Amino acid sequence: MAKWWSEFNDDFRPHEIPYFQRFIEQDGQPALDVACGTGRLLLPYLRAGLDVDACDVSADMVALCREKATRAGFSPNLYVQPMHKLDLPRRYRTIYVCGAFGLGSTRDRDLKALECFHEYLEPGGTLLFDSEAPYADARQWRYWLKDERALLPEASRPPGGRRRASDGAEYALSSRVVDLDPLEQRVTLEMHAEMWRDETLQSEETHTLDIGLYFKNEPLLMLERAGFADVVVHGEHTEVEPTSDDEFLVFVAKK
Ligand SMILES: C[S@@+](CC[C@H](N)C(=O)[O-])C[C@H]1O[C@@H](n2cnc3c(N)ncnc32)[C@H](O)[C@@H]1O
Repeated sequence: MAKWWSEFNDDFRPHEIPYFQRFIEQDGQPALDVACGTGRLLLPYLRAGLDVDACDVSADMVALCREKATRAGFSPNLYVQPMHKLDLPRRYRTIYVCGAFGLGSTRDRDLKALECFHEYLEPGGTLLFDSEAPYADARQWRYWLKDERALLPEASRPPGGRRRASDGAEYALSSRVVDLDPLEQRVTLEMHAEMWRDETLQSEETHTLDIGLYFKNEPLLMLERAGFADVVVHGEHTEVEPTSDDEFLVFVAKK
């Protein structure tokens, strides 16, 4: 999974990179990239000369991120830590989370993560995290209805097309919805990754991933509970108010 991210996702949703970068550049250093993955945002920021540390719960992701940073001539502070249990030597002017809030987590842990961010921000510092609106994904949205939910779990799909990585191996990734709980506002996906060499399947892994689904108002209450003031919401990684047509919301909160 980490290898897939590292090889094929650098140009995924490119407009997110300048959006967060503006906040870091405007009196927002040092910054912490929470759930950095393999450094899709971190590396451009290091190249821009910004002071950014990063963490991720996955040792695989962090190892690949470190490899990429080293190849590019950087040695950032990288930590393997879950966002709800940060233990860091520094405080930050900006903490941002891109594409990861609510992943593999629970409501309680998500609130703890916000409390951690509050603790690790300097006074006046800014927290930013994005969240995909639950109604943005047509494939998942249908399962909020009882009759549609009875069709779950989805059948396993054949992995998508294989893609050749820089190590010469080919990788394929597929996912299916196995459960959606509208009461708890949580979807469970099964992710399946394969690695092929010379037309032979060399390894495969299957993981389930719970994702907390957030509409606009619950994070606002959680942020207030975690001690944040002065919260605004942006639509689609632009500094404008969201509309109901926006698929992504970004919460921007001041300590
Ligand atoms: C969709 S990727 C996004 C990576 C990166 N932020 C980006 O935008 O390219 C999600 C990342 O969140 C990490 N992650 C998931 N749950 C986490 C948690 N509780 N604490 C820290 N990282 C987490 C995963 O390991 C993965 O690297």
